[in-house]
Amino acid sequence: FLYRHLGSQKKQSPTTSSHHFLTSLAEKMSTLPLSRSEVFGELRRELYDDEEFHQSDVHIFIIMGASGDLAKKKIYPTLWWLFRDGLLPEQTYFVGFARSDLTVDALRTACLPYMKVADTEADRLEAFFIRNSYISGKYGDEVAFSNLHSHLLSLPGGAEANRLFYLALPPSVYLDVTKNIHRRCMSTKGWNRVIVEKPFGRDLQSSEELSNHLSSLFTEDQIYRIDHYLGKEMVQNLMVLRFGNRIFGPIWNRDSVACVVLTFKESFGTQGRGGYFDDFGIIRDVMQNHLLQMLCLVAMEKPASTSSDDVRDEKVKVLKCITPVSLADVVLGQYVGDPKGEGEARLGYLDDPTVPKGSTQATFATAVLYVRNERWDGVPFILRCGKALNERKAEVRLQFSDVPGDIFSAQCRRNELVVRVQPNEAIYAKMMSKKPGVYFSPEETELDLTYRSRYRDVKLPDAYERLILDVFCGSQMHFVRSDELREAWRIFTPLLHQIEKEKTPPISYKYGSRGPAEADELVQRVGFRYEGTYKWVNPHKL
Ligand code: BG6
Repeated sequence: FLYRHLGSQKKQSPTTSSHHFLTSLAEKMSTLPLSRSEVFGELRRELYDDEEFHQSDVHIFIIMGASGDLAKKKIYPTLWWLFRDGLLPEQTYFVGFARSDLTVDALRTACLPYMKVADTEADRLEAFFIRNSYISGKYGDEVAFSNLHSHLLSLPGGAEANRLFYLALPPSVYLDVTKNIHRRCMSTKGWNRVIVEKPFGRDLQSSEELSNHLSSLFTEDQIYRIDHYLGKEMVQNLMVLRFGNRIFGPIWNRDSVACVVLTFKESFGTQGRGGYFDDFGIIRDVMQNHLLQMLCLVAMEKPASTSSDDVRDEKVKVLKCITPVSLADVVLGQYVGDPKGEGEARLGYLDDPTVPKGSTQATFATAVLYVRNERWDGVPFILRCGKALNERKAEVRLQFSDVPGDIFSAQCRRNELVVRVQPNEAIYAKMMSKKPGVYFSPEETELDLTYRSRYRDVKLPDAYERLILDVFCGSQMHFVRSDELREAWRIFTPLLHQIEKEKTPPISYKYGSRGPAEADELVQRVGFRYEGTYKWVNPHKL
């Protein structure tokens, strides 16, 4: 395999190079077949290509909330994949911290089902767990954090090590944990970085409180707010597609684009995660972050450079041009069981035992946003997301306006450019072409870049792999800055408060359906044209 994503991981500027590390590959190379070690060497060179490279840099990755679901299902497996593939600095140690009294062996047993370990990787897995340790302690107890600090110092090279703290924690303990990290666990000789998971508050006010708290403890360049959609291959590709091609620039505006649709669909329900979900709902869970981030990348102006702050400056500017969403531009839904369905599909949201009885929380939402600037004024940006729908799919779709001055007797359909984020990553442009053969009539077809056909041997890393690697490298481009977050909440807070105050009832939709018909009507009303005459077929499967 060969990752081809590394351009974005490179250092942005020589001034931030103090934390660079390159490690000796000699030991690793001696234990790996030549072809693989050559690949690692190549990757390492690309990743850590700084002159101020320090062979001896030690890194400690601390997982706060090590016994929780996120740690077990996502963070430990990701660290293992990065370690297995030789992408982490050579001297990296992993320390779990949580309340439960656990051993590394118990952690290992809990994480193994999610780690996808091949039979041939047993030695490497052993090496990974040798680098792991675990400390238990209460989140509010400063002494426990002093113990953790002593433990970090006791690791080989621990006194000088750089520290990465991953907060895989419920929001209720955020304040205590960050305060105690700051007071007791900061490295004085290496750098410190803190990775924060959503939810970043529940609305503008609570998010501001959290931001103020964090900024009283850490500088902005120490804080990495994860939105894992920013780690996805096709989301990262949006900038290259837009700004690396001449053909799209001139048509990427209100003169040619009729509407933009950003879609997130899941084919399963809350699956016992209803307790968490019910507190937040689909707007906070997906729309305010994942979909809005994609919107920014579609709508923003070209940044002055690809440096993290130039990119984020442009994202903030776009957000500032969006007026708060109005309830009149929103359709909310909640799924009910399909009596004809099988298994899970028979159960509605309210049948999930972890969901409070009679909840009016939305599991589906469609909202129309407008970017009031010169490029986009009047173009609807349609954000659609939902659980328990007919398919699993995330995509960005630009629908272009009709061709003026038709000479083909209304046979032409609108062009669309689709970036399929998942599954089956692809970019395709729906277009008209002459029906092949003796005909002279237009026919719908597409220009297709399906990754699995075009890049057969490339293994795409998981979003978390890229993002964690970015934190090691010190690149914040794919992380959310505090002003972006503030703007995102400004756009959605009035809507969320109104829904909560008025207890706006969601429209029921059947498990496995497209969602409420009212959502399709809204989308058509604002200008999206659905012809239903054409469906993209993944050519990989043809
Ligand atoms: C998370 C949401 O942020 O994203 C989940 O909290 C959702 O509800 C998940 O299922 C989807 O992630 P992905 O990478 O599977 O699209």
